[in-house]
Amino acid sequence: MSILVTGGAGFIGSNFVLDWLAQSDETLINLDALTYAGNLDTLKSLQNNPNHIFVQGDIGDAPLISQLLTQYQPRAVVNFAAESHVDRSIHGPTDFIQTNIVGTFQLLENTRRYWEALPTEQKSAFRLLHVSTDEVYGSLANDAAPFTEQHPYEPNSPYSASKAASDHLVRAWHHTYGLPVLTTNCSNNYGPYHFPEKLIPLVILNALAGKPLPIYGDGLQIRDWLYVKDHCSAIRRVLAAGRLGETYNIGGWNEKPNIEVVQTICSILDELKPKADGSSYAAQISYITDRPGHDRRYAIDARKIERELGWKPDETFSSGIRKTILWYLENQAWVANVSSGAYRDWVNKQYAGTP
Ligand code: NAD
Ligand code: TYD
Repeated sequence: MSILVTGGAGFIGSNFVLDWLAQSDETLINLDALTYAGNLDTLKSLQNNPNHIFVQGDIGDAPLISQLLTQYQPRAVVNFAAESHVDRSIHGPTDFIQTNIVGTFQLLENTRRYWEALPTEQKSAFRLLHVSTDEVYGSLANDAAPFTEQHPYEPNSPYSASKAASDHLVRAWHHTYGLPVLTTNCSNNYGPYHFPEKLIPLVILNALAGKPLPIYGDGLQIRDWLYVKDHCSAIRRVLAAGRLGETYNIGGWNEKPNIEVVQTICSILDELKPKADGSSYAAQISYITDRPGHDRRYAIDARKIERELGWKPDETFSSGIRKTILWYLENQAWVANVSSGAYRDWVNKQYAGTP
């Protein structure tokens, strides 16, 4: 038995791969294009693990997908591969359209051909799980109820629009061709191996480096934070027991305004790694120009996955953020490795002209 995971060298995919191989004897084929966001250093503990087969390649490469499916005969495909950063999608949407929409289409179409030819028993056991985001639902007013699975799709950024399009393709491949799919829409993740272009790792690393902690706009935008290991356990649960064609919202019940997240990180760092001059890291907070089209609030109603599949997150925000900060303090070599030339070019472009 095997499973094919795409995007397994990125933040969530690598956490999923590491957790999966720690718990299962099944072979896992990890297909990742190794864009700037993919990092083999994250997977180095698997170097001698015969159950991990890494393949560098693109989900949009139809012959490659078809060859991998035929060669390894997986019982499931889990699709994490995507361009994932909203700010990058604003600077240049092309890669988002290519990977998130065209790539997902190629993955679906080739998986469908493989699935249609499977013997009856394997055909009925097969699953394709598509990992998506709460951002497809758009922005919530502060007094609105959290997103349920019935919430209309109202994506506002090139990133969320491309993910929304991919979700629609997945849905259509189920309704039209009967492909046995599952879709998960998750809130903001944080935890180990998070690429430092995203808010939480960026703030931890900038704080330690004595750099400004950039807050877009008024800092009162709200995100619903989920520890990445909880996301991975939810995906395993949906893969094992989710109802075909259904979508499951995954969230941490941890709504926080950005400024509160940043202040929490500063006060934990003040305790764990006090500054020599006795000042707080919070003194480095710097308000900068807002992101264009910035969604005000995301919040997930995660009652369906709890009711149907018995899943609940293990971590609270305060336990998860402390673990995350400790991980970054203890893994400076990983940080140095990913903070390479390409990363520095991005930071210079995105934060140019800010104090
Ligand atoms: P990430 O950017 O850290 O990793 C994406 C991975 O996909 C990288 O390893 C990259 O090399 C790979 N990749 C990119 N294009 C590819 C292609 N064409 N073919 C093969 N591999 C390719 O992203 P992440 O934060 O780990 O997110 C993973 C998935 O989860 C995405 O689909 C994202 O939309 C979704 N998601 C993310 C969050 C979050 O908070 N990070 C929340 C909800 C959903
Ligand atoms: P991010 O981690 O990019 O995730 P997303 O945009 O997918 O929610 O950003 C989380 C929140 O933090 C979002 O409201 C934008 C904000 N943010 C800042 O205020 N400053 C920053 O430098 C970054 C990267 C994000």
